[in-house]
Amino acid sequence: MSHRIRFEGLDEVFECRNNESVLVAMERLGLAVVPVGCRGGGCGVCKVRVLDGWYHTGKMSRAQVTEQEEREGYALACRLYPDGPLVLQAIGKLVRVT
Ligand code: FES
Repeated sequence: MSHRIRFEGLDEVFECRNNESVLVAMERLGLAVVPVGCRGGGCGVCKVRVLDGWYHTGKMSRAQVTEQEEREGYALACRLYPDGPLVLQAIGKLVRVT
């Protein structure tokens, strides 16, 4: 089973597998929608905001995503696991692959 991931303002729509982070799915497909850093929830460069959809997260550095931000939908893409289709907003510099 996979879930549809769409970034607001971008044409890219891609599928994220069950138990696969949004960042891993993005890399598997050769996309560069959000910056990639540590891949471990620590550096914060892959920060996104979930605008719509159900999801859960793995361990994220509180220095990068505060409890308040987490309640507002902010998450780290490398620790973001969709439970259904998601609409996301990229926080870092947007990069398009052509
Ligand atoms: S890549 Fe470092 S927190 Fe996601």
